[in-house]
Amino acid sequence: MKAILLAGGTGSRLYPLTSVLSKQLHAVYDKPMIYYPLTVLIAAGIREFCLISTPADIPQFRKLLSDGRQWGISIEYMEQERPRGIAEAFIIAEEFIGSDNITLMLGDNIFFGGDYFPRAIAEFRGGATIFAYHVKDPYRYGVVEFDQSGSALSIEEKPQNPKSHYAIPGIYIYDNQIVEIARSINPSDRGELEITDVNLEYLRRKQLSVRRLSRGFAWLDAGTSTALQEASAYIEAIERRQGIKIGCPEEAAFIRNFLSLSDLEALIHKMPSCEYRDYLNLVVSEAYRSHG
Ligand code: TTP
Repeated sequence: MKAILLAGGTGSRLYPLTSVLSKQLHAVYDKPMIYYPLTVLIAAGIREFCLISTPADIPQFRKLLSDGRQWGISIEYMEQERPRGIAEAFIIAEEFIGSDNITLMLGDNIFFGGDYFPRAIAEFRGGATIFAYHVKDPYRYGVVEFDQSGSALSIEEKPQNPKSHYAIPGIYIYDNQIVEIARSINPSDRGELEITDVNLEYLRRKQLSVRRLSRGFAWLDAGTSTALQEASAYIEAIERRQGIKIGCPEEAAFIRNFLSLSDLEALIHKMPSCEYRDYLNLVVSEAYRSHG
């Protein structure tokens, strides 16, 4: 399984914040937004990444994340000139995908809790797996309707009259049919290759699995100033209460054994004195304690 991190778009709802800095590089509490989805995917065991963003923003992503080797992963960068839709990512990344399965995650989605994604990725056997999350305002999202047995019946993009409260969050797992399907769909009225049309095609082929995320799970998107502020407050509350960090790629890579203890110590050594470094030092001490 490989992964695409989609971090382009215009971020118009966050103007003027986004006039000089990509939305996905803004801070969510104490880290750049892109750290959160990246960490979820590393924690799920994925090592090969392609980050797609605008030509203007890629140099900054590259400066922040480099080629990923420091975390025991690889990151390639590809440009999306204009935001022509989420599903265009599969056409842009066709060579990167090759003959693999692919998980796509939006760079502004923040998740916390449970092990839904590592499980879904480990158990993935083909077709498509997407997720459903109960929200108050489903009309802002792709909405999935279930039949009585819990199977997906319909999916609608930003419906005026949603058939359920279940929105589809920005993480999608596909088999290798995805490139052919993305190539076969037409742009919508708003001129975008819609991820909903991709999911509908898998539904039509009877190969779509939709997993519901429970109420104890958090899905935050950071697309508006209020949502960004709320996401920061949420992360701060959990981190301060629990003394753990959410969205720390070094820690996730260490837990997954992509980094050895001495690799992690070498990384920490290069960091300036800061809370992030203090936290990673704690991770190291805990590891020494638990390994004797
Ligand atoms: P959106 O939030 O729908 O769009 P946006 O980020 O451009 O923000 P705004 O609506 O305020 O202008 O996009 C969701 C995510 O998908 C976000 O991380 C950007 C990314 N995206 C792309 O990278 N390329 C695209 O063509 C689209 C449609 C979205």
